[in-house]
Amino acid sequence: MILIDGKKAATELRQELKQEVMQLKTQHNKVPGLTVILIGDMAPSQIYVKNKEKAAKEVGLKSEIIKFPDTIEENIVLKKIEELNEDVSVSGILVQLPLPKHIDKQKVIETISPLKDVDGFHPMNVGNLSSGYESSVPCTPLGCYLMIKKIEPNLSGKKAVIVGRSNLNGKPMAQLLLKENCTVTVTHSKTKDLKTECLEADIIVAAVGIPELVKGDWVKKDAIVIDVGINKTENGLVGDVAFDEVSKVAKALTPVPGGVGPMTIACLLKNTIDCFKRSQK
Ligand code: GUN
Repeated sequence: MILIDGKKAATELRQELKQEVMQLKTQHNKVPGLTVILIGDMAPSQIYVKNKEKAAKEVGLKSEIIKFPDTIEENIVLKKIEELNEDVSVSGILVQLPLPKHIDKQKVIETISPLKDVDGFHPMNVGNLSSGYESSVPCTPLGCYLMIKKIEPNLSGKKAVIVGRSNLNGKPMAQLLLKENCTVTVTHSKTKDLKTECLEADIIVAAVGIPELVKGDWVKKDAIVIDVGINKTENGLVGDVAFDEVSKVAKALTPVPGGVGPMTIACLLKNTIDCFKRSQK
């Protein structure tokens, strides 16, 4: 069984991105910039945002965090985003989610210029991805996709089963694999026989938020299994895949932690650099 080392894959990708930033600096005499907006003081968001800033600086990007208290009015946030849309030194804008209840998430997402939307959440990017056009792609499914491609470069005709249909993971994951000519099934909480669906799969991506849902006897021999879940349980952090059981049948499997997580941040840096490159065309 191949234990997919997300940390190693992320380190390699960041190394490539660092080289690319150096080249861009020589070519354009400036570097891509990432601005993250953080509203409130939720501990997990604070940690994520700090990690994003650190990673951005390590590859040579310009990085800025704008902090607002959780009482901030929505229109102040929207105005700040509009300002950043106009700022040529800002290549990518990310508003850390979740937001306080009084702020309309969709309005925030739609205010970010689609050309600077490093999350790939703007409806224009969602539409472009589903139409097969160039777009920003949400970081987590992009990271999963790159890891799958490393294991299996030719995905044409493979059967992929995605567990979970979120806008963040399941749906963009389906689009990426469709583009690769996979036959894609998107399953969810109302799916009748999840086990039978999973047993058909050459590739399983579990992104549903149910601890250890995907069992060993749900997985075909030599399937590739990607575990997007991070669930806090009495036994510590576990994924959506029963790791010990599935590792006995799968060809390749991502661990939790150390699988998808590190690749997500590296892909945010990639998206920032890609937005910069498109803006220079
Ligand atoms: N909060 C948790 N994950 C994410 C993400 O991928 N993007 C944003 N903007 N917020 C998040």
